[in-house]
Amino acid sequence: MKGILLAGGHGTRLSPLTNAVSKQLLPVYNKPMIYYPLSVLMLAGLREVMVVTTREHRAAYRHALGDGSPWGMSFEFAEQSAPRGIAEAFVLKPDFHDGNATCLVLGDNLIYGAGLSATLADARQRVERGGATIFAHAVRDPSRYGVVELNKDHQPVSLEEKPAQPHSHFAVPGLYFHDSRAPAFAQELQPSARGELEITELNRRYLDAGSLHVEPLGRGIAWFDAGTHDSLLEAQNFVHTLEHRQGSLI
Ligand code: TTP
Repeated sequence: MKGILLAGGHGTRLSPLTNAVSKQLLPVYNKPMIYYPLSVLMLAGLREVMVVTTREHRAAYRHALGDGSPWGMSFEFAEQSAPRGIAEAFVLKPDFHDGNATCLVLGDNLIYGAGLSATLADARQRVERGGATIFAHAVRDPSRYGVVELNKDHQPVSLEEKPAQPHSHFAVPGLYFHDSRAPAFAQELQPSARGELEITELNRRYLDAGSLHVEPLGRGIAWFDAGTHDSLLEAQNFVHTLEHRQGSLI
């Protein structure tokens, strides 16, 4: 399985911080934001990672991350000429996939907590047998995210992107496991009304094919999307509090 780490986008909600600096390089307490989703890929045991950036910030990411070798990793970089959506990552470098399943993580998402290694290992094993696995996390404001509705047997029945009237309080965090069909599904997607190839649409292909697994993340796992001033501050406070209290690095 290969990893995809997304660090493109506009970062408009964090303006003016992002006028000159790419969002995913902003500090979350004592590390650049992108270290946290990168550590999730490492925890999942992935070693080959494609980092997606804008053309403008590609050099900065190369500088910040290098080629990955000091960490036992291998990074390659892909550019989006414009932020055409998360699912575009699957069609940027067809050779990268080479028939592998992938784990895609958004560069502004922090996921941390008890049992995460086992959750990632389960997802990886499941998807290496076929299908896709996404996660569900209960939040107060699901309209900001992709929202998944589950039936009483915990099976997904609907997936919607930023719905005004959400069918559930389960948001979908920016961490997705897909089998090797994802690039072909992504090729078939049409841009949405906001001009993006939507990851929710791609996941819906798996839902329609009956091969989408949704794993609820328990209360012991914290998830932050550090894309707004408030959530960035919350993420920073979280990392600071845990590191000070426990004396270990996140
Ligand atoms: P978003 O937060 O949806 O978009 P953004 O980063 O452009 O921020 P804003 O809405 O404030 O303008 O993106 C989520 C993550 O996905 C973020 O880490 C950037 C990344 N991304 C890409 O790499 N390419 C894209 O085309 C898009 C839309 C997002």
